[in-house]
Amino acid sequence: MSIAEVRGPSFDHRLAALFSSDPAAMGAAFSLYRDLCDAGPAHEFGSMVLVTHHAECRALYRDAARLSSAANRSGSLARENRARLTPEQQLAFDELNRLETMRMSTTDGEQHRRLRLIAHRAFTPARIKELEENVRGYLDELLAQPDDVVDLMELAYQLPLMAIVDLLGVPQAGREQIHLWSTAIGRNRGGSEPDAVLPAYRAVQEFSAYVRRIIDGHRRATAPTQLVAALMDAEGDDQMTVEEVIVTYMMLLFAGHETTTNLIGAGMLELLRRPEQWRLLTEDPSLAVEATEELLRFVTPVQWNNRVPVVDVEIAGMTVPAGRTVRLLNACANRDAAVFAAPDELDLLRANARDHLALGYGQHFCLGNALARLEGAVVFGTLAERFPSLTLTGDEPEWTGSAMLRRLRRLPVRLGS
Ligand code: HEM
Repeated sequence: MSIAEVRGPSFDHRLAALFSSDPAAMGAAFSLYRDLCDAGPAHEFGSMVLVTHHAECRALYRDAARLSSAANRSGSLARENRARLTPEQQLAFDELNRLETMRMSTTDGEQHRRLRLIAHRAFTPARIKELEENVRGYLDELLAQPDDVVDLMELAYQLPLMAIVDLLGVPQAGREQIHLWSTAIGRNRGGSEPDAVLPAYRAVQEFSAYVRRIIDGHRRATAPTQLVAALMDAEGDDQMTVEEVIVTYMMLLFAGHETTTNLIGAGMLELLRRPEQWRLLTEDPSLAVEATEELLRFVTPVQWNNRVPVVDVEIAGMTVPAGRTVRLLNACANRDAAVFAAPDELDLLRANARDHLALGYGQHFCLGNALARLEGAVVFGTLAERFPSLTLTGDEPEWTGSAMLRRLRRLPVRLGS
């Protein structure tokens, strides 16, 4: 039964507005998620099934044998999106789709395991420690400016970009160009905007040429790069092909940038809206690690992930046929009262905040989770320590980007230093 039959057509309109990334609908996302979660664990919506409760989402994330990430490339939603394109856009769509066969997050089974194991070498504890030092240094640079009123989104955007540029082993001087490519590729990610396909295709071509030059420099030993070494310098099957390296660069860039920007931006907004929670952190900045977990739960920077069943599956009593896109709504699951007491309250001292699904679950659990968590903790802790009187100065927040990764346009604050 569709959600409209149960809750009335206005529900369908609200969902359609959210999934088409309407800014007002993105602003009201959590009240819609609340209604959706209260209405039950699974709902039909258009060509998709939406899953809202924590237990069901978690079980489906774990069931990677039946709920495929690779089949996202050909599921009901992908077919619907492709059908809307012109023949020229379809050619670009198909080429982007071909590259996705090498992207960890859209592969399954043995292929996924191999790509993930190799990429995992880029995240050794020693490398994370190095990146932490860099992040602290960059944060000092970004905060060394004389103005009292600043837009925190600038920091939220620059810092993760600087960290990911270091991880990729490319010069900081190129980061704006990298950001432009990443934005063009990211805009196409939901696949629902036909106009985004060709710019994404061009960005992929340019970015590929850029990464080929990095690989070349590494091979000639003129500019050795830790990340290329981690991905390519092993024996036998244990290394990536040039094309796999290019796709992995793209994946890390995209997965590690806007996600963290949103954790910092939306996280600071929610903290500053609740002075008693902000005070807890300013009185004890060492709470920043716990605060990061609760903020990951509360703002859920990646609001959902999709899967496509490869056989017919039963979800909360509903039979879902193979090939139908299943949307796992992390943002709903993270506000499920069956797991989190008073789920719509931000509570930095919440004992089980870490049970959130904000970083996914199971085989595809966020590979960059250590970096994401450390960036969050460094920013929240440092701001609380240095600027305890920090306050919001702007009007109602405006949301932009795609609904899956909704982003604040601005976050003006008074540092009060
Ligand atoms: C607050 C920041 C972040 C959030 C909320 C986040 C969230 C997620 C989520 C929900 C998934 C699961 C996707 C799925 O199941 O389909 C994921 C996967 C992934 N993330 Fe993150 N992420 C963040 C930061 C990062 C960073 C900093 C990196 C790398 C530098 C990264 C790299 C990845 C990769 C490579 C995957 C795919 C793993 C796989 O398919 O096996 N993420 N992330």
